[in-house]
Amino acid sequence: MKWWIVVALLATRLLLMAEEVVSPDGQTRVSFYVENGRMTYEMWYKGQLVVAPSHLGIELINWPSLMEGFKMEGVEHTSFDETWQPVWGEETSIRNHYNEMAAHVSQPELDRHIIVRFRVYDEGIGLRYELPRHANLDNVKIKEEHTQFCMTADHMAYWIPGDYDTDEYEYTISRLSEIEQLEEKARTANATQSAIPAPSVQTSLLMKTDNGLYINIHEAALVNYSAMHLRLVDGLALESHLTPDARGMKGYLRCPANTPWRTIMVTDDAREMLASRLILNLNEPCKLEDTSWIHPVKYMGVWWEMMTGASTWNYGDYQPVDIDETDFTQIRKSPRHGANNANVKRYIDFASQHGFSQLLVEGWNLGWEDNWQKFRNYSFTKSYPDFDVQMLQQYARDRGMRLMMHHESSSSIQNYERQLKDAYEFARDNGYDVVKSGYVGNIFPAGHHFDQWMNEHYLYCIKEAAKYHLMVNGHEAVRPTGLCRTYPNMIGNESARGTEFQASAGCEPKHVCILPFTRLQGGPMDYTPGILEMDVSRVNPNNHAHVKATVCNQLALYVTMYSPLQMAADVPESYERYMDAFQFIKDVPVEWERSVYLEAEPAEYITIARKEKNGERWFVGGVAGRHEHVATINLSFLDKGRKYEATIYADGKDAHYLNNSQSYTISKKRVNSRSRLQLRAVEGGGFAISIQPVD
Ligand code: NOJ
Ligand code: CA
Repeated sequence: MKWWIVVALLATRLLLMAEEVVSPDGQTRVSFYVENGRMTYEMWYKGQLVVAPSHLGIELINWPSLMEGFKMEGVEHTSFDETWQPVWGEETSIRNHYNEMAAHVSQPELDRHIIVRFRVYDEGIGLRYELPRHANLDNVKIKEEHTQFCMTADHMAYWIPGDYDTDEYEYTISRLSEIEQLEEKARTANATQSAIPAPSVQTSLLMKTDNGLYINIHEAALVNYSAMHLRLVDGLALESHLTPDARGMKGYLRCPANTPWRTIMVTDDAREMLASRLILNLNEPCKLEDTSWIHPVKYMGVWWEMMTGASTWNYGDYQPVDIDETDFTQIRKSPRHGANNANVKRYIDFASQHGFSQLLVEGWNLGWEDNWQKFRNYSFTKSYPDFDVQMLQQYARDRGMRLMMHHESSSSIQNYERQLKDAYEFARDNGYDVVKSGYVGNIFPAGHHFDQWMNEHYLYCIKEAAKYHLMVNGHEAVRPTGLCRTYPNMIGNESARGTEFQASAGCEPKHVCILPFTRLQGGPMDYTPGILEMDVSRVNPNNHAHVKATVCNQLALYVTMYSPLQMAADVPESYERYMDAFQFIKDVPVEWERSVYLEAEPAEYITIARKEKNGERWFVGGVAGRHEHVATINLSFLDKGRKYEATIYADGKDAHYLNNSQSYTISKKRVNSRSRLQLRAVEGGGFAISIQPVD
């Protein structure tokens, strides 16, 4: 035993006394103690109990569990204060400031000890288990992790149902106690889903207390572990529930090993939750030596026409194909293959003319005719006969653009991993630097999207891609937990219900007023905003869906839904129809120096101002959710004494997210740092402002 443990042991002779750690501002406090042999913690914020006494522990299969028989050995306290520069982000520098307490506990009868480490920030905490290697704790198999988060009352929760395979759900807002009865209704259809056999929700879970505290439970640095869900036990207690693998196993750890951080954020001002970088800060610093090749991207795509059904991913009609044997020039052709040379050139012409740097093209590669649940479902190096990779990439380069690579795996993981290096080499050698990957459908042949092995797969792809200087944007992959700090080539993720649903069932107006508090806490989302034609039948006459948003709501998303990878998702024809509104999408940057969170209330409204990196322009975006919202915007963030011109894109007086979503006004106004703007956003609406210095 190390000397400091002995000293700490002597110093903490009163073993049942709680050990405490407080945040740098003194307002967030955690206490940890062992009671009847069980590790227990509590959390306080501004004198209010946020987490009532909650047990910690991990149940093992092959060794006695880390649940009971504990004794406090001592604690170490340290502090940390550092400012770091992200490769991309909502600001150019981030402060990581916390007080830490490492609690050493032992199970004397088993002669082993572990550490529970707490990091306490002004706006929340992270805690994790650290398992040293012992003779009877070397390679462990996890039956379940039992980290409790006992709430103090029946808070309002903004939740999606627990599921091992998808998070593409609408949010339900209800009391914690109502989740059980509402869960089935919340579980809308998806190509892959596995309900958890108990009332449960996914992280990041947002809650609001009746006296105005906002609480968020999530995880940070999910590496070599399965994703955590939250099961409701005894009404108000939430408890970790790990994703099982194909054999029902919840995790294999080779000690020494650490779990991911379990995070609890708390604030009485919702804007502070949006401004928090707690999840990023709990991740390791960047592990890539050279990041000069990583850059934000604004892109268009041969995509919405496929999502809406106007064109197809598949070159041939539905038929059996073999990517190694079939002569694709001879198969029965689909009349509407989207990724054909002429169509792609048309998009490149439009996108390059309007300043975009990349064009995503889906359905370019062999296999889409019959891709379902089979091993060799796609090739990632062979293109269809009507898609000439080299010619098109050159055509794009000649116009200052690149094509963006697309790898849909349909969750046939072995097929994808076996081709991965060839696929990345092919992409690099053909001038691509971003890969959008996808995991539609059940994991084939077995497993779950959020289990330990799939999480390892996603990270393996990110690390491999970095060797080829490729950035990765994974769809249907596990929800992000801040790993983009460590691997900034993880440029995006979907991992929530995105705009694709607007081509069918839709996304409710409140959705984009919740995501920044939940899904975006872990990292940026490739939400694919920018649909300006809400009547989907104008893209595909046979599709009668209606996008549930106004034009200005879609514009505002470029500011409110931070991502270094932003798509202008609509088809060129729609942009041609609404060129004046499209101007905002053309102007808005994807790199920011500073962000100011002006107004925020989950499900109701979010208003954010951001200053561009390497420039003097400011952009403001505001979205309204369940109700109309009148925003009063104080422009005091502008430089004092300077004159600016604001171009204001606002919902029309009669705008409505379903009946009149195309109604908007554009006006110009002289403003300065003393100006106040009052703007009304309708339910599902919004406003967007670009502000340019004129002196
Ligand atoms: C689902 C993705 O989210 C979507 O963006 C993509 O177009 C389809 N899969 C096909 O890969
Ligand atoms: Ca998706």
